[in-house]
Amino acid sequence: MDKNTIDPAKSIPTFYAGQSIFLTGATGFLGKVYIEKILRSCPDVREIFVLMRPKKGLNLNERLEKMLNLPLFDKLREEQSSSFKKLILVSGDISQENLDLSAVDRQMLTERVTIIIHSGASVKFNDSLKYAILTNTRSTRDICILAESMKNLVALVYVSTAYTHLDNPFIEEKIYPPVADWRKMIKVAESLDEYILSIFTAKCLNNIPNTYIFSKNLAENVIQEYSSSLPCAIVRPSIVLSSLKDPIPGWIDNFNGPIGLGAATGKGLLKVACASNDTFNNNIPIDTVINTIILVTWKLGLKTFTPDSTLFVVNCTFPDENNMLIMRELCNMMIRFSEEIPCEGVLWTPSILLTESLIMHYVLTILWHILPAILIDLLLKLLGHQPVVLGLQRKVYVTNRALQHFLCNEWKFDNTNSRDLMSLIPSSNREMFSIDLSDFDMEKYYRNALIGAKKYLLHEDMNRIDAAKAHRKRVDLFVAIFKIIMAIGMLWMVYKWIFLNILDPTDL
Ligand SMILES: NC(=O)c1ccc[n+]([C@@H]2O[C@H](COP(=O)([O-])OP(=O)(O)OC[C@H]3O[C@@H](n4cnc5c(N)ncnc54)[C@H](OP(=O)(O)O)[C@@H]3O)[C@@H](O)[C@H]2O)c1
Repeated sequence: MDKNTIDPAKSIPTFYAGQSIFLTGATGFLGKVYIEKILRSCPDVREIFVLMRPKKGLNLNERLEKMLNLPLFDKLREEQSSSFKKLILVSGDISQENLDLSAVDRQMLTERVTIIIHSGASVKFNDSLKYAILTNTRSTRDICILAESMKNLVALVYVSTAYTHLDNPFIEEKIYPPVADWRKMIKVAESLDEYILSIFTAKCLNNIPNTYIFSKNLAENVIQEYSSSLPCAIVRPSIVLSSLKDPIPGWIDNFNGPIGLGAATGKGLLKVACASNDTFNNNIPIDTVINTIILVTWKLGLKTFTPDSTLFVVNCTFPDENNMLIMRELCNMMIRFSEEIPCEGVLWTPSILLTESLIMHYVLTILWHILPAILIDLLLKLLGHQPVVLGLQRKVYVTNRALQHFLCNEWKFDNTNSRDLMSLIPSSNREMFSIDLSDFDMEKYYRNALIGAKKYLLHEDMNRIDAAKAHRKRVDLFVAIFKIIMAIGMLWMVYKWIFLNILDPTDL
C-alpha cells in the first residue's frame, strides 16, 4: 500500500512523515535519545530543528559532530547516516529572553515547525532562583509565545518532572494549583539581581526542596494557561535511568542520578549515602520516556485542536511497585553485580551504608570519604600524579545531597494515561514504540545498566574485564587484611584500657 494512503492513526511513522520538529535540550540525555529514535523509527520525518548554544569552546557544528559520534548513534549511522542531514542547527539560549533566537531563525521556525518538544532545562538543583526561573519557567513562556505564531503547529510537548508537586503523596495526572504566580515570579527574576533574590529564596521555595522543582512547577502552569490556545501536553518522567534496550541496552551519559552514585559505589568511592533503606525509588528507562514523548505527540497531533481541548498530562513513571526494589535491596543487587562485573581500578571493596541522619552522613563522609581521599591524593602527588580523589568525593557528596530528598521519600503516581496510551499503539508499531514495562526484568536491566555505566560513563573496555577482576581480588584481599589488623588493634586497645583502668596491675 502507498505510504501516503496509510491512516496516521494506524501508523506512528506515517504520522511523523513530513513533520518538522523543533527540539530544545537536544544535547541533553533525553534530547539525544529522542533525536536518535525519531530519525531511526520515523524515517520520513522532514527535519528536526535543534536549539543549541556554543559550549566549552565548541561551536554549534562542532557540538553536533561530537554528539553524532557517540556510540548512541552507531546503529543509526550504520543504517541511515543520510538522516543526519535532517538536523538543522538553530542558535539559541533558553536562559535569555525569547530564547535568544535571531529574527531569521524565528521566521523559519514560524513557517515550518509542526511539533515542539521543549526538553531543555537547567537540571541543577542548586541553581540560583533567578537562573532557574529564567531558564526553566520563562523559556517555557517564550516557547509558548513562539508556538502561537506558528502556522502549522499540531503539538507542543513540555517535558516536566514527576516531582513538581511533592506535597502530595499520590501524584495524579492533572495540573495542581501553582506554588506561586509565574508571571510575577518571572518579573521578580528579571528585575532583582542574583544576590537580592538569593535572600528571598528560602521564603519563595517554602516546602519545595530546590529551585529546579520550583521553576518546573511554575512552568507547568505556564503550559496550562497556554493550553487554551495551543495543542499542549505535559510528560512527567520520574528519575530517568539507562536505556532498557533501544538503541543499545544500558546507554547513559551523565553521573547526575542513581547510576552515577552506583558507579561511585562500584569504584569503592562511595561508602555512605544519605538515603532511606526502605523507600522505593521510581526510576524509569530513558527509552520508555522517549517513546512516551513520541506517543503523546502522536495522540495530540491526531486530534483537531479546539480551545476547550483538555491539557493532556502523563506521569511517565515506573508503574508496578511489586516489581520494584527498595533502596537497600537495589544497592545489594548492584554490589553483587559489581563482583561479577567490577569497575577498573577499584579503590576499596564496594559496599554502602544508607542513612537518613544528616549528622551521621556528615561524620561518616569525613571519616570514610574525605580523610582517605586526602591520603590517596597525597600518595598520588608523591608519585607524581594529579590528585583527583578529593575532587571526585566532592562531586559525589554534592550529587548525593542534591538527590537526598528523593532518596529518603517516596511518592505514588497515577499511570492511567500511560496505560491508555499503550492501548492506542497500533499493533504493527507495538514493539518499536513500546512503553510496556509489565515484563520488566529487574536483574537484567540493572546488570546492563552497570555494564553501560562502565562503557559509556567510565569509558572502560569490557575486554579488560579479567584484569579488572584480578585487581578487584587484590583490593578485596588488602581490605580484608586491613580490617583484621584494625580489629586486632581495637581489641588490643580495649584490652589495654581494661587492664589499666579496671584491673589494678598491683592486684596481679
Ligand atoms: N534526567 C532525568 O532524570 C529527568 C527526570 C525528570 C525530568 N527531566 C526533564 O527532562 C528534560 C531533559 O533533561 P535531561 O536529563 O536531558 O537534562 P540534561 O542532560 O542536563 O540536558 C539539558 C539540556 O538543556 C539544555 N540547556 C540547558 N540550559 C540551556 C541554555 N541556557 N540554553 C540552551 N540550552 C540549554 C542543555 O544544553 P547544553 O548541552 O548546552 O547545556 C541540554 O541540552 C528537562 O526538562 C528535565 O527537567 C529529566
